[in-house]
Amino acid sequence: MVSTEASIYDRYRESIFPAVTAYYGDEAVVIDRAKDQYVWDVDGRRYLDFFGGVLTISVGHCNDYVTERTIEQLQKVQHTSTLFINPIMVEVAEKVAELAPGRLQKCFFTNSGSEADETAILAARMYTGNRDIVTLRHAYSGRTMLAMTLTAHGTWRLGGVIDPHVKHVRNPYVYRAPLGLSPEQLVDLCVQDLEETIATCTDGRIAAFIAEPIQGVGGFIVPPEDYFKRIEPIVRAAGGIFISDEVQTGWGRTGDKWFGIEHWGIEPDIMTMAKGMANGSPIGCTIATPEVADALKGLTFSTFGGNPVTMATAKATIEYMEMHDLPGNATKQGAALREHLEELQAEFDFIGDVRGMGLMQGVEIIKPGTDKEPDAALTAAVMAAARDQGLLIGKGGLYGNVLRISPHLGIGADDIEVGADLLAKALTQVAQ
Ligand SMILES: Cc1ncc(COP(=O)(O)O)c(C=O)c1O
Repeated sequence: MVSTEASIYDRYRESIFPAVTAYYGDEAVVIDRAKDQYVWDVDGRRYLDFFGGVLTISVGHCNDYVTERTIEQLQKVQHTSTLFINPIMVEVAEKVAELAPGRLQKCFFTNSGSEADETAILAARMYTGNRDIVTLRHAYSGRTMLAMTLTAHGTWRLGGVIDPHVKHVRNPYVYRAPLGLSPEQLVDLCVQDLEETIATCTDGRIAAFIAEPIQGVGGFIVPPEDYFKRIEPIVRAAGGIFISDEVQTGWGRTGDKWFGIEHWGIEPDIMTMAKGMANGSPIGCTIATPEVADALKGLTFSTFGGNPVTMATAKATIEYMEMHDLPGNATKQGAALREHLEELQAEFDFIGDVRGMGLMQGVEIIKPGTDKEPDAALTAAVMAAARDQGLLIGKGGLYGNVLRISPHLGIGADDIEVGADLLAKALTQVAQ
């Protein structure tokens, strides 16, 4: 029985699966409302949001332009299912194709990044006739059984592997390169590992290689510039196609380009996206070249895929991003944020690495005086201190020791200063 006397947190503990964890444990932030760069908790405390619900708030919370278009659609038609066509779904698909690189043209809309990745794997297998999928260690692909199998963080892989055809190869994690390898040597090692994996763990033919252009949950791991260019020909020689998981890196997050993979000069056969595409409304999108999309044959259906309300929200979000050149703003404000983070790195010896692109910046926390030993407890302490200062940031990394900083893409210069200052205060607090 639910007691109305109990706090929301106590009621949450009673009513929600415990595996659905919230940041800050017993001191979880219970959000009441939000606007633009701010959220307020149920006690009326205001926070500057520098995580945006895991890179999902791309144009600010409750953005007026997006909200108005969404309400208009709510009053027009709210649901059709994919068995009936709604015009706005077609409009969004055309827009995605216009902005996507290369020959990507046909969309499949679903409700989450996990579903978008599942759809991509299915399409790749049907197109190539091959089964094996190669992906990267430290990847995160979501919480469906196949997505957890693609994921390469032990902590996020629940319930056991369901697909023996998924193979994980070494990722280009420069900061943690083994044996002190240089970035160039690390790329060589990654290439060699991919070749060996295809030769030894598959029958030599693969369906696809799927990767995030910058690994998100992995801790904003940015590959060396030539990494993907070196990988792509090997994948294609084995009959595989290239899937770019843009769930975190898509929609201007990495600055200047609409999609992360564009920075690396690759034309993927499939891209998957979700999060920032609809500014917080549940969405998944798999876009493919016409031949790959056409190869996914047979009956398939998504009750909420392409839902007109979600599509109206996505359309307005994309329009707003274009009107205000938010990919450009991500570059500009991302550079300012990065400068501050590098200054903080010079000041605090427990900051081992600062990395990222655009408004996707990571700070790796280590135990000072050690050989890059990850410090998850200190990372959690920084997050809590930041919250006490009124700043929300996220964390990630295999070892739970990377701060993830990703304010909305329209963030202004003043807020970057305020956010950096609050973070500096939090770091000073834990350093004492
Ligand atoms: C790169 C990447 N792919 C897929 C997913 C899964 O998305 P969702 O949580 O919407 O299922 C995530 C979620 O964080 C992600 O970061």
